[in-house]
This record gives sequence, structure tokens and C-alpha cells, in this order.
Amino acid sequence: MAEDGYPVDAGLVCITCGHCVAICPQAALDHTRAPLTSQVLIDKTPVLDADTAEAFLRSRRSIRVYKEEAVPKNKILKLLDIARLAPTGGNTQGVQYLVIDNKDALQAITKATVAWMDEAIAQGEPLAAYFAGLVEHYHKTGQDIILRNAPCLILAMAEKSFMRGRDNTHFSLAYAELFAPSLALGTCWGGFVEACARSGYQPLVELLAIPEELIVTGGIMVGYPKYTYKRLVDRFPLKVTWR
Ligand SMILES: Cc1cc2nc3c(=O)[nH]c(=O)nc-3n(C[C@H](O)[C@H](O)[C@H](O)COP(=O)(O)O)c2cc1C
Repeated sequence: MAEDGYPVDAGLVCITCGHCVAICPQAALDHTRAPLTSQVLIDKTPVLDADTAEAFLRSRRSIRVYKEEAVPKNKILKLLDIARLAPTGGNTQGVQYLVIDNKDALQAITKATVAWMDEAIAQGEPLAAYFAGLVEHYHKTGQDIILRNAPCLILAMAEKSFMRGRDNTHFSLAYAELFAPSLALGTCWGGFVEACARSGYQPLVELLAIPEELIVTGGIMVGYPKYTYKRLVDRFPLKVTWR
């Protein structure tokens, strides 16, 4: 705001965050790249009271057992449309998604990721000890320890040269995870499949047909949870320092 009480055009430093339009009590301001017509009026602040917000945040769980039921495309699109609203560094956004819901393709992804883990174990890589028990279980039982038989996998991708790709992905997928239960869906981070894809493991990169200029920056499995949790879990005690 200038001294005369009127807003000043931020010019080249504008990151198109839309705040100038969103904060105006009279809806007197508009912005070509953050149009007033795309914004939604807030009718209650805060949107949730503290108890509801806490219960909402605490009740998100990593879901590792899913029903066989497929997730309709419109639900995945809704989930990703919420992910789109997450905070990103300098409002850069820049995350795009690949959705895989073909059973054969999902099984092939699990297989490729396990093969990558097998190689890591054989080469004695730092994560070998962590991988060993899991892949042994997979080879013995065939249980999908990578994608957990989820009917859908969402992979986030960003330009290889984009420094904020992973950070922005983490916030975006966290939004998707938090929103999922409102659509009766459950999610789980696909940490193994992401690490495998990000390492550039060719069999997986080719299977996913990731465009040359993009890299996988994160991923979540999505499906209908088979079981319902009855309690909210706790974490390590809070560690905080004031100075
Ligand atoms: C970066 C990241 C990667 C993860 N990767 C996996 C994974 O590959 N497989 C899995 O079953 N869970 C994975 N998880 C889920 C964590 O194990 C889980 O968040 C943690 O145990 C806490 O449980 P909660 O999410 O139910 O609160 C991952 C979580 C994060 C944040």
C-alpha cells in the first residue's frame, strides 16, 4: 500500500499470489493473472474451530490395505485440484501429475521397484538393510509391499531444472492426502516408487514413459480404505526451543 492508502502495482516482483485481490473488503481490486472472478468468498473465519481442525489433521492415516474398487476419474481430478491449491515456493507451482490406474501397469511398477531394490541390496547400497526385509517378504509371499495393491497411483512430476519441484510436490501431495478422506478415499506416500523413479532407474522410467525433460518428484497411492481407524495416534514428544 502507498502512503495515499492506495495499492501499488508490484510490477515485475509480482508472484501472482492473488493476495491483493483476496484481501480487498470492497472487491474493488482485480488482477489480470489472478482474476477476482476465480476467487471464492470466505464466509467464516477461521473455517474450522480448533478442535475440528485438530481432529481433521490428526485423523489422516497412511492407508496400506485397500478395497479392490476402482477410484473414479472425477474423484482423482478433485483430489488433484485441491493439491493445486497448496503453497509453493514463490508461488511457482509447476507440479504436474501422472495417474496410473491400470492393474497390470501397477503390478509392473511394483516389480520394477523391487528389482531396483534387489540391485541396491546386491550392491550393498546404504539403504540395503532397510530394503532387505521388505523384498524378502515380497519374494516369499508376493505381497505388494510397494504399492499395497492400491487401485491407483498418482505420481507428481516437475521439470528437471526446477529447483522447487520436490518441495512444491510435498506440500501439494500433503494437501491431497488431507483432503482424500472427505472423498471417502485413503492414501499412502509411495516413497519407494518415488526413490526408484527419481534415481533414474531405466526399466521404471521407461515403463512410466516419463518425458525426457521431467522427473518424478513424489507419489501417493490412492484407494478406498478397507479398514477404519478407531483412535488418533500420537507422536514423539514435542521438542521446541525459545531464545
Ligand atoms: C516421504 C515419505 C515417504 C513414505 N514412503 C512410504 C512408502 O514407501 N510405503 C509406505 O507404506 N509408507 C510410506 N510412508 C508413510 C509413513 O510410513 C507414515 O507417514 C508414517 O509411518 C506415519 O503414519 P501415518 O501417515 O499413518 O500418520 C512415507 C511417508 C513419507 C512422509
